Amino acid sequence: MKNKLSKVAKDINNYLKIFLRQQKNSGLLPPMKYGLLPGGKKIRSKLLIDVGKIFKIKYQTLIKIGAAVECIHAYSLIHDDLPCMDDDTIRRGKLTTHKKFGEATAILAGNSLLTISFEILSSPKLNISEKLKNQIINLISKCSGHVGVAGGQLLDLSYEKKRISKIKIIEMQRKKTGMLFHFCCIAPVILSKKKRYLNKFANIGLDIGLLFQITDDLIDYKGISKIAGKKTGKDKKKGKATLISLLGYKNTINYLELLKNKIFKQLNNFGDKSKDLKETLDFVLSRSK
Ligand code: IPE
Ligand code: IPE
Ligand code: MG
Ligand code: MG
Ligand code: MG
Repeated sequence: MKNKLSKVAKDINNYLKIFLRQQKNSGLLPPMKYGLLPGGKKIRSKLLIDVGKIFKIKYQTLIKIGAAVECIHAYSLIHDDLPCMDDDTIRRGKLTTHKKFGEATAILAGNSLLTISFEILSSPKLNISEKLKNQIINLISKCSGHVGVAGGQLLDLSYEKKRISKIKIIEMQRKKTGMLFHFCCIAPVILSKKKRYLNKFANIGLDIGLLFQITDDLIDYKGISKIAGKKTGKDKKKGKATLISLLGYKNTINYLELLKNKIFKQLNNFGDKSKDLKETLDFVLSRSK
């Protein structure tokens, strides 16, 4: 699984490097590359590829869509680390973008990564029908904005140091993290035109996103900074509303196990075709970074 993930990460980075090389130079290009290329797992792109395998979608098409997803993800991390949000100094084993380049530059580099994702998707290099392209761009816009990542981030910040119900924590995590995973799980279904599977993979995507955020919270709770590539033990200090803070460690592990079983059950009908996806999920559950 690790080899398959690093192949996807390499292919995504290569595509992004070539795309960025063809851009005019600007003062924002270095911080954009800094926040985008080195160190990230590119797990969202791996999920796109895994679901794409079930629906027989071309690898190269998915790499291009994954490149756009990674730009949005990188933007969300650059902004997430700002002093006005989580105020972090280390990300992916190096200084956060604002620590390296300054706050204003980091904000603008984040904005530019968000817009370049739409440039990648609308480029003729992504060779799919205009109709499908429009559907993909429409969906990723919704998933990233006020009812998706950005809206979830606002909830995350507004829940700090408050007692928040389980339902509300889950809703916030589904937005801030789940919606991008949700996109990755339905984009291949959209490309396959097999509409009857849309609902199922929409839900699987949200569940995988939630699973991913809970494992991220567990890394913060128990993980080692050096391995994780970011400071751990920060959620407690910041008073973040997580399932761990509400239910405790053991109950969170139990919840995670139930969630995993729920997702795996949904995938049972797909037999061998879902093997890679299941492998990726096992990796997410056992990861230490
Ligand atoms: C971290 O995401 C932020 C969350 C949504 C939990 P990743 O763990 O995918 O970060 P990188 O891209 O691998 O650094
Ligand atoms: C970030 O969640 C979710 C985003 C959408 C960026 P966290 O704040 O827990 O991510 P880390 O732990 O800083 O990577
Ligand atoms: Mg955060
Ligand atoms: Mg953070
Ligand atoms: Mg975290």
